[in-house]
Amino acid sequence: MTPAQSQLVRSVTERFGPKVAITDPEAIAPWLSDWRGRYHGITPALLSPGSTEEVAAIVQLAAAASVPLVPQGGNSGMVGGATPPADGSALLVSLRRMNRIRSLSPAGGLAVAEAGVILADLREAAEAQGRRFPLDLGARGSATVGGLVSTNAGGTQVLRFGTMRSLVAGVEAVLPDGSIHDGLSALKKDNRGYDLDQLLIGAEGTLGIVTAATLRLVPGATARAVAWVGLDSPASALTLLRQLEARTDSIESFEILPDETLALVLGHVPGLRPPLGSAHRWHVLIEAVVTDVEAESPLILLERLLAPALEDGLAGDAVIAASEAQAESFWRIRHSISEAERSAGPAVQHDISVPVDDMPRFMIEGGATAEARFPGTQAVAYGHLGDGNVHFHVRAPVGADRERWYAEDGPRITRLVHDMVAAAGGSISAEHGIGQMKRAELERLGPPSRIAALRAIKRALDPQGILNPGKLVALAPEPSRP
Ligand code: FAD
Ligand code: LAC
Ligand code: ZN
Repeated sequence: MTPAQSQLVRSVTERFGPKVAITDPEAIAPWLSDWRGRYHGITPALLSPGSTEEVAAIVQLAAAASVPLVPQGGNSGMVGGATPPADGSALLVSLRRMNRIRSLSPAGGLAVAEAGVILADLREAAEAQGRRFPLDLGARGSATVGGLVSTNAGGTQVLRFGTMRSLVAGVEAVLPDGSIHDGLSALKKDNRGYDLDQLLIGAEGTLGIVTAATLRLVPGATARAVAWVGLDSPASALTLLRQLEARTDSIESFEILPDETLALVLGHVPGLRPPLGSAHRWHVLIEAVVTDVEAESPLILLERLLAPALEDGLAGDAVIAASEAQAESFWRIRHSISEAERSAGPAVQHDISVPVDDMPRFMIEGGATAEARFPGTQAVAYGHLGDGNVHFHVRAPVGADRERWYAEDGPRITRLVHDMVAAAGGSISAEHGIGQMKRAELERLGPPSRIAALRAIKRALDPQGILNPGKLVALAPEPSRP
């Protein structure tokens, strides 16, 4: 620990007690690597404040002593954003103790949740009051409000309700100088210049530590139906989605996966069964939800809307879950993909978006190009087709040396994939953020005006660079790597 870090830890302990400044290496260890196990950091202390005032005091002390801080929520992020630097220069600030839902107003359709509230708990609390918080993802049992806000998370309900950004009505955060920005009143109209709340959403902890957010709730579901459809291509899948969207606004999820991915999950998670008896190259999971007791049952709705697609051959086969348990098992397949992929050996993973209508072409042509340029690799793409966002993974050839492949082939494959994305007018980060994983690629692909603006904002709000150094964007341009 540096003298400045020791002094900071001592001050925090004196003011707030030992449970706010943890230095036991065993207690810290689980929080030093990212979920995928690709990034590993070191820190001498994990600070665990219990209130906004404690966060503000910690940031003030850190700013005065120039000690960098890395905000962390559930540590489920996909880009190494919550992993401290490997040189031990930064302290972790965990928001997990700040896990109170301060208010939940079903009538107003708003909840004020602290940064450490876990997504599953928020969803449950809203449902208990006849409302829903309509954002869902596989890490719902660990991802926190602060992390979701700071990554502008997406997930499997974006189709109808948008990403986190559209669900956040206001943000409370501690800025890099230790001052508190309070946007929780969630004014419907507020034109006092630049929108700080919006700047903090998706800032990945580089502009402030989010301590709470006012979140939008939507009407509770009166019924839902979940269908599994087998078909021949992403193009057929998108045509099906467009047909459904033309006839109803009840479709909340439309997720695509190739047969290889289904097989991987079924082989990885015991007890799951293939939803269909027939074989198909591609699969989609569809959820329809109604919020009005008078509305047509979503099961009948899906049966009615899927029938023409089955008749004219657009869809090869389909099943609608006959029970909540079966619906949950379909969703379990979808939400287990990351876990199954993690166990499947080395793969470079890309979280990309292109214009929605171009995604079917991109998935097929991009996959074929990657496999042709890197013989022995296998490209798979799955995810949020209706949002124009898929997770595009390229697996190492069987028998490849893990570390060598990650060091040598991995970056070349990533450059190829990202170049194809750029050529299609897309984004190299659709929903996971930049973190440390994509920083060099963001700098490489720019555009320069965007990078310059990001850097100028970072410099203006955090001139010392004490919040989440080494993530998203550097204060100054770095020498380009070979
Ligand atoms: P962390 O991982 O702890 O942190 C993420 C980033 O936010 C870091 O940069 C960190 O510094 C910053 N941060 C965290 N808390 C704060 C705070 N209070 N103030 C300021 N900065 C903060 N993501 C999707 O978008 N869509 C998906 O479908 C999806 N599925 C997933 C499935 C699985 C199985 C897993 C493991 C992850 C998935 N993710 C998905 C990624 C992840 O869940 C999200 O990025 C989530 O928002 C991270 O929340 P967290 O609390 O775990 O944040
Ligand atoms: C998903 C994560 C990887 O969609 O974003 O499963
Ligand atoms: Zn995703």
